Parts: sequence; C-alpha cells; structure tokens
Amino acid sequence: MMGLLELNELTKEYKRGERSFNAVNRASLSVAPGYFISILGRRGRGKTTLLNMGAGLLKPTAGAVFFEGRDIYGLNDKDISFLRNKKIGYVPQGQSLLSNFTVFDNVCIPWFLFKREGDIEGRAFILLEKVGISHLAASYPKELSGGEMRRAAIARSLINEPRLLIADEPTGDLDAQTTAEIMKLFSAIAAGGTAVLIVTHELDTLNYGNKTYAMDAGNLLPHTA
Ligand SMILES: Nc1ncnc2c1ncn2[C@@H]1O[C@H](COP(=O)(O)OP(=O)(O)OP(=O)(O)O)[C@@H](O)[C@H]1O
Ligand SMILES: [Mg+2]
Repeated sequence: MMGLLELNELTKEYKRGERSFNAVNRASLSVAPGYFISILGRRGRGKTTLLNMGAGLLKPTAGAVFFEGRDIYGLNDKDISFLRNKKIGYVPQGQSLLSNFTVFDNVCIPWFLFKREGDIEGRAFILLEKVGISHLAASYPKELSGGEMRRAAIARSLINEPRLLIADEPTGDLDAQTTAEIMKLFSAIAAGGTAVLIVTHELDTLNYGNKTYAMDAGNLLPHTA
C-alpha cells in the first residue's frame, strides 16, 4: 500500500566552510494513515533535517517527498503552504508558542491563516480538553510549564484536522510521567486515523507506536533493540 507520506531516498547536503556533508543520507520511509512511526537518534544526527523535509519546510538536495501521492516539492510555495496548513500538523522542536498570545489564541492561529468557516472556538476548546489543559486557555505561554507548553503546541498542530502529525522531540526535557502521557496521546491520535511521525532521542518512547527507526549520522535504519 502506498503511504500517506513517502520519503524517497532523501538526501540533504549542508556546507560548512570548505567542507560539505550529508545531514540526511538517502533516507526512505513510508507512513500510512493510522500509523505511529518514531525515529530514534542521538543529538545532531539529522532528525530535524529529515522531519523538515518531510513536512514540506526544507527542500531536499536529492530524493522526493510524496504526500497523498503528490511530489510536494514539485508544487509552488503557495501550494505547499496551503497543503501544509490543511493537512500536516507540525510540532516544532523546543518552545514554539507565540508569547504575546494566549494559549487559546495560539491554538487557533493555524485556522486563521487561510479562509475557513466553522466553529473555531468550540474546536479549540475540545482540543485543549483532549490534551488536558483547557483550564489554561486564557494563560500566556510564560505562565506554563514545559509539559503544558508542549500540550498547547500539540493542540495547535491538530486544529485544522491534519491527516499527518509530525512532532520533533515532543517529549524533550519532560519527566517520565509526562512523557508517557504525551506518547499515549499520540497513540490515541493515530488510533483515530491520523498518521503520526515523531523523532526523539529518548529510549523510553520505544514502547509506543507501530514501528521504530534509528537514525545515525544521516542514515535511517529499522531499529533493533
Ligand atoms: N542550515 C544548516 N547548515 C549547515 N549545517 C546544518 C544546518 N542545519 C543543521 N546542520 C547540521 O546538520 C546536522 C544535523 O542537524 P539536525 O538539526 O537535523 O540534527 P538533530 O538530529 O535534529 O539534532 P538534535 O537532536 O540536537 O535536535 C548537524 O550536524 C547540524 O549541525
Ligand atoms: Mg533536532
């Protein structure tokens, strides 16, 4: 079966001074609807670079990204933005909420980037409840813990009902219990039919998801314990 997202021999070459190197080296991966895929890799191994290429944010040096069977880097920038806003939820690495907006407004922002109709307030509250922080709707990011900020970013990524959710180290710097709760949340999101792709450097995320890959120096391999 063709995946919802297909990464086909993706390579990203970076140059640093005279030296060039492949941060990602011919990585291939397929993510089907309802599947939860995680990629495990240590610091600086090309995880963010790979995710950004898969999310339509970074053009690969070689290889192709297919979403719903379409080569996304064959589209123009406007069409890529529209596709991403509509169909791909993205949780960036680290703190990514806008500090001058409440949690509620942060969650709503992707909804307002393109013209839409419907009950945005109701949707936002349902999502805040789902991630367990509806009591923080009127708070500002600086008033939240790291785990609460991460939950808000996850709610934001889901506001447009994406078919694919991509998260970059969604449990980085969180305690074991919060990590387990967030991983269970991703499992539930995948069970609802959304494809989930995450990268992490934490071994305690291994018990979740359908399939785990390991990333080492730009190479993607099936994970073996
Ligand atoms: N724009 C860039 N130009 C040059 N080198 C870069 C660029 N972005 C990333 N790199 C390098 O590419 C390699 C992979 O970076 P990347 O951010 O993908 O790693 P990562 O696995 O996400 O790391 P971390 O776990 O710290 O988030 C690193 O050596 C990094 O320094
Ligand atoms: Mg990274």
